[in-house]
Amino acid sequence: MTPPLPHPLLEQLRQICGPANVLTHEDPATDLSPWEQDWRKRVSGRALAVVRPGDTAQVAAVVKACAAFQTPIVPQGGNTGLVVGGIPDKSGQQIVLSMTRMNAVRAIDPANLTITVEAGCVLQNLQTAAENAGFLFPLSLGAEGSCTIGGNLGTNAGGTQVVRYGNTRELCLGLEVVTAQGEIWHGLSGLRKDNTGYDLRNLMIGSEGTLGIITAATMKLYPQPAAQLTAWAAVPSMEAAVELLGLAHQRLGPGLTGFEVMGQFALGLVDKHYPHLRVPLWQSTPWCVLLENSDSESEQHARAQFEALLETAMEQGWVSDAVVAENLTQAKGLWHIRESITLAQVQEGQNIKHDISIPVSRIPTFVAETDALLALEVPGVRLVDFGHLGDGNLHYNVQAPEGSDGKEFVRAFEDKINTLVFDQVQRFGGSISAEHGVGEQKVNKLPLYKDPTALAMMRSVKQALDPHNILNPGRVLI
Ligand code: FAD
Ligand code: MLT
Ligand code: ZN
Repeated sequence: MTPPLPHPLLEQLRQICGPANVLTHEDPATDLSPWEQDWRKRVSGRALAVVRPGDTAQVAAVVKACAAFQTPIVPQGGNTGLVVGGIPDKSGQQIVLSMTRMNAVRAIDPANLTITVEAGCVLQNLQTAAENAGFLFPLSLGAEGSCTIGGNLGTNAGGTQVVRYGNTRELCLGLEVVTAQGEIWHGLSGLRKDNTGYDLRNLMIGSEGTLGIITAATMKLYPQPAAQLTAWAAVPSMEAAVELLGLAHQRLGPGLTGFEVMGQFALGLVDKHYPHLRVPLWQSTPWCVLLENSDSESEQHARAQFEALLETAMEQGWVSDAVVAENLTQAKGLWHIRESITLAQVQEGQNIKHDISIPVSRIPTFVAETDALLALEVPGVRLVDFGHLGDGNLHYNVQAPEGSDGKEFVRAFEDKINTLVFDQVQRFGGSISAEHGVGEQKVNKLPLYKDPTALAMMRSVKQALDPHNILNPGRVLI
């Protein structure tokens, strides 16, 4: 049999990045599934090649070559995204641009409180680099051991510290970006003030790889707190959780760095699948709350503040029981339970995920009404509710009724349930995506819920920056 003709684009890409950094199906020994399958293992694509550039000039050259062949590019970081935004489609004609070789910390500027890193830097490594220099980089999420800062910027990721530090957008001061034409925008500014026209940085952040490829970023650093304390509280209702949040804002001010809510069924799943984690207080209460107090004075001060806060909350009936972690190991254990909900849900079987936001004040009514509507629509449905209550961001997830087939449930009910939940979100003045993004998963829903004028402006921006639609087509906008 004659070997296949060399693909002219692949030849060029091999010249640009080196043959070892252009992986294809031509080599039967190469398994491309880690780049082709999404984290939830619900969707698989097929790439023409996985290309792994080593620097910004290579990214620019790859984009120019792909543009000449009108070959679409899917930027990818750690591939932990939850909305099918970073994997190729099934055509076998798209390039996955894997940024993980570009992982250097380029510079730390202690006086300016900034750190400049390449896009493929794993979030945990960025946190460690900041810590080693005596600072805090506060972005924190369950996937931090494998997601990259490029992906965090691409999705404008949230996580568990947003209540104090904001999401990824608010932590970024400057970007280096390769455009759809293969030009390099040198925007790595460490400036906190710059009013010279349109805000291109914030346009790129959250654009999910559809407007440009982020190759490096300058991020904000913060002083390390003197003490960080974690408490786990049992609360009798979502209303009580919202009251507790108000009190925590009042008493802790900027010290309140985390406020997560977790429903009983969500914690029951952690208990079922990871019993060694020893979930506290969950059996006797519908909700638990995880609070973090970061104090600039001392541990003693933080503990006294926390105890006073919890005492008042108990007097008011907003907390029925609580534990305050005695040390860092215990605190980490409590956070680990919270971060294990996603994995416990995977163990339980396929489910329908949501990352909605609603004004905090309206969340209790939203949950009560939507729970009731869902129970009518799918009798026996199980709700895995948890999330970043401090930001008004709920993971209002829906699991198949006990004993039923998860795959079949998702196939039969996903669209119906999404419509029900998103209609409710709209009624309550919320957003259908608070942090995970649109990707391919919500691309058909976005036009139904986004303001039509905003959507038209988004389309104009896409057309202006990527007129041939080579950057991550089919994601965010169709
Ligand atoms: P990928 O999955 O590789 O890509 C995500 C998107 O960004 C894609 O559209 C991709 O094309 C684009 N992209 C990637 N790199 C670039 C680049 N260099 N330039 C331009 N575009 C790029 N998300 C939250 O917001 N909050 C959470 O609390 C949270 N917790 C999670 C917990 C778990 C266990 C898991 C698995 C995921 C969680 N996520 C969370 C989702 C996910 O981790 C985030 O969306 C993360 O930001 C994705 O980073 P990544 O490097 O894996 O990006
Ligand atoms: C989280 O907050 O844990 C994440 O956003 C992941 C999820 O939604 O499962
Ligand atoms: Zn989340």
